[in-house]
Amino acid sequence: MGSSRLVSIIFFVYTVILSIGSINCKNKNNLVTNQAALFVFGDSLFDAGNNNYIDTVSSFRSNIWPYGRTTFKVPTGRLSDGRLIPDFIAENAWLPLIPPNLQPSNGNNQFTYGVSFASAGAGALVESFPGMAINLGTQLNNFKDVEKRLRSELGDADTKTVFSRAVYLFHIGVNDYFYPFSANSSTFQSNSKEKFVDFVIGNTTSVIKTLYKMGGRKFGFLNVGPYECAPSSLIRDRTKIGSCFKPVTELIDMHNKKFPDVLRRLQRELSGFRYALHDYHSSLSERINNPSKYGFKEGKKACCGSGPLRGINTCGNRRGPSQGYELCENVTDYLFFDSSHLTEKAHRQIAELIWGGSPNVTGPYNLKALFEFRLT
Ligand SMILES: *[C@@H]1O[C@H](CO)[C@@H](O)[C@H](O)[C@H]1NC(C)=O
Ligand SMILES: *[C@@H]1O[C@H](CO)[C@@H](O)[C@H](O)[C@H]1NC(C)=O
Ligand SMILES: *[C@@H]1O[C@H](CO)[C@@H](O)[C@H](O)[C@H]1NC(C)=O
Ligand SMILES: *[C@@H]1O[C@H](CO)[C@@H](O)[C@H](O)[C@H]1NC(C)=O
Repeated sequence: MGSSRLVSIIFFVYTVILSIGSINCKNKNNLVTNQAALFVFGDSLFDAGNNNYIDTVSSFRSNIWPYGRTTFKVPTGRLSDGRLIPDFIAENAWLPLIPPNLQPSNGNNQFTYGVSFASAGAGALVESFPGMAINLGTQLNNFKDVEKRLRSELGDADTKTVFSRAVYLFHIGVNDYFYPFSANSSTFQSNSKEKFVDFVIGNTTSVIKTLYKMGGRKFGFLNVGPYECAPSSLIRDRTKIGSCFKPVTELIDMHNKKFPDVLRRLQRELSGFRYALHDYHSSLSERINNPSKYGFKEGKKACCGSGPLRGINTCGNRRGPSQGYELCENVTDYLFFDSSHLTEKAHRQIAELIWGGSPNVTGPYNLKALFEFRLT
């Protein structure tokens, strides 16, 4: 065991003792040279609390009980009973929890471990849920602000080292595909479906390319999950409760077919660009359709909410105190915590596949390989 490994182990124990939240470590140079940071972009699957700090509506925010009850014991803004996928990835990478970008800083340079820019409801397109969430382009601008901060704290060379060693994790697109079915979208109405999907992927690709120019080399992606079969979607048509919401299926399938080609092209075009793509669509579909195989009793009914399949998102009385909601007895029996978001147990399983999955599940690299990869 090398000495840097030993330092990491000691450091990890130290962070566990300090527990959840920010870490105050005085030796910044040591941090910069020994750890790969995690920068997180995306939507509610990854939002660790950014929406708590924006002027949005209560349905786009989850800083309410019983969110957070399993692990944190308090609501944090995460849309789950407990930890999210990036929390488990950070744990595997021996990093502390990655703080939301908008969480007031305690003045220490905790951002050298990474930052989460993800925002519940966010899409790659500016016109998806405008004003309700921080879209992907704005998340990139927030990353540029972090760059300025790091440059002033660490200097240009160390900032570059942090950026080139870091892993950039993305989940984006599903809100773009749902938005046209909840509001009038002129972009959707005046373009072919094919073109619309190209816009979503094109806007995502622009962000990836900018991060690459800023020094990013290691990227992790999830394709778009089968959210047309989440509890909220299964009750959309009251005459066919339990059927997936078909209009979105076509868009998601198109996205998942095109996106891998785009990543392969980026790898050819951008020297040193490495990526992990997890087939989230398959891993989540598997669990929705065969819950018992993965230790769940319910793959289609939410733990928290109301109405059929608890598919109405009233969890935590988010739409008003008088409404009421049901909460399941044993959350570990459930794949979905609320009508659209998974339980901690599900997140842990998916995170393991992203971290250590074989190439047919997460490839060409998995996140473990990306974190371990050292640029020379
Ligand atoms: C879309 O626009 C039409 C016509 O202006 C309107 O009747 C309809 O309610 C709108 N739909 C939504 C979901 O906003
Ligand atoms: C990004 O999306 C907009 C629609 O919001 C579209 O006009 C533009 O062409 C897209 N950009 C790319 C690079 O695909
Ligand atoms: C909850 O369910 C899990 C798995 O089915 C079981 O192991 C556990 O004992 C249950 N806990 C309670 C409090 O019923
Ligand atoms: C992926 O490959 C592993 C071993 O290489 C195998 O055990 C597993 O069943 C495969 N999974 C899928 C989804 O094909």
